[in-house]
Amino acid sequence: MENVNDLSNPPDTSFLSEQVAFVIKKIFENQKDFQTLVPPAASKNLVYEPEENNDWTASFWIGQLFLAKELTKSHDFDVTIEKQLKSFANRLEKKIELETHDIGFLYSLSAVADYKINHTESSRQTALDAADLLMKRYSPKAKIIQAWGDLSDPEQNGRMIIDCLMNLPLLYFATNETGNPKYAEAAYQHALQTQKYIVRPNYTTYHTYYFDTQTGLAKYGKTQQGYSDDSCWARGQAWGIYGFTLSYLHTGDLSFLETAQHLADYFIAQLPEDKVCYWDLIFNDGSNEERDSSSAAIAVCGLLELAKQLPLTSKKRTEYENVALEIMKSLAENYSTKDTPQSNGLLLHGVYDKKSDKGVDECMSWGDYYYVEALTRLAQSWYMYW
Ligand code: GLY
Repeated sequence: MENVNDLSNPPDTSFLSEQVAFVIKKIFENQKDFQTLVPPAASKNLVYEPEENNDWTASFWIGQLFLAKELTKSHDFDVTIEKQLKSFANRLEKKIELETHDIGFLYSLSAVADYKINHTESSRQTALDAADLLMKRYSPKAKIIQAWGDLSDPEQNGRMIIDCLMNLPLLYFATNETGNPKYAEAAYQHALQTQKYIVRPNYTTYHTYYFDTQTGLAKYGKTQQGYSDDSCWARGQAWGIYGFTLSYLHTGDLSFLETAQHLADYFIAQLPEDKVCYWDLIFNDGSNEERDSSSAAIAVCGLLELAKQLPLTSKKRTEYENVALEIMKSLAENYSTKDTPQSNGLLLHGVYDKKSDKGVDECMSWGDYYYVEALTRLAQSWYMYW
């Protein structure tokens, strides 16, 4: 039997120090363009043009700044971080484009991260206000948080999506800080509904699922960004690996840890030769479809956190760590912008939304963030913002 704990053949991590230095330099330089403005969701011709803080992806820049601060233990990023924090407080106060569940991404990587790192009281309050706004999207009847749009929009009413698992930590934060169980209870119910309806019996996942918010009845699964309603969108599966692991961490419900492992096993089984997934897991080598490096980076973070939660003696723990390292090595060697100096992104070959021809084969702002998070996880002990 293969000994997965064989330390005579440790995974190759020689890419790590070079890539950590590379991303820190790039983030440092990018500060000249992104002080109060932010990179958009996706680059165009591999360049992010600065935009206002009004999209769901705006926090992936300040998230990178916090990671760079932690990696360097310097004050080189503080001025930009301050300006970004003000921009997030202002966005919340004015409710700029916040009719979305992505309030979780937006305020976990800004206000919560600031509170966890710097213990800033105003950021704690911003995070709690953001959690209150997110709670307004919770349907007690359907037990889900509506993903997108106005709550009365018939197109979006009762629609939940797998990505939302990453928005739930903001609610657990609010319960931990206030002692009010209502936030954690909503998050837990939403995660249970995701597990029951979004995860299929073969451990692939729907991207989105509709519920009737009057009766609470589950209706049907539908994709938004995947290839088809019954295919497995790579990023959805990656959000699921990381998100169910976080649901376990915040609730102690072991069934979430098991679900995360099943999703990870399916994801790993679909990996192509170079270990970086295609944008939908229905595709593999020879398909002529694009890779999605951003899903790969998310999956690495999920696999590393998942591995950490398993017993020291678990063979799965070593397997997940080794696969995560293999994916990272491939990203570092073949997907980093290290040989593409005209780009201000970090990770090439991401896909935002292939069917809408949006951000195809470009850098993704979250791909860059999760790549830096993965490098941080590999380089040092890191206290999660999630
Ligand atoms: N959360 C939206 C996406 O992953 O594209």
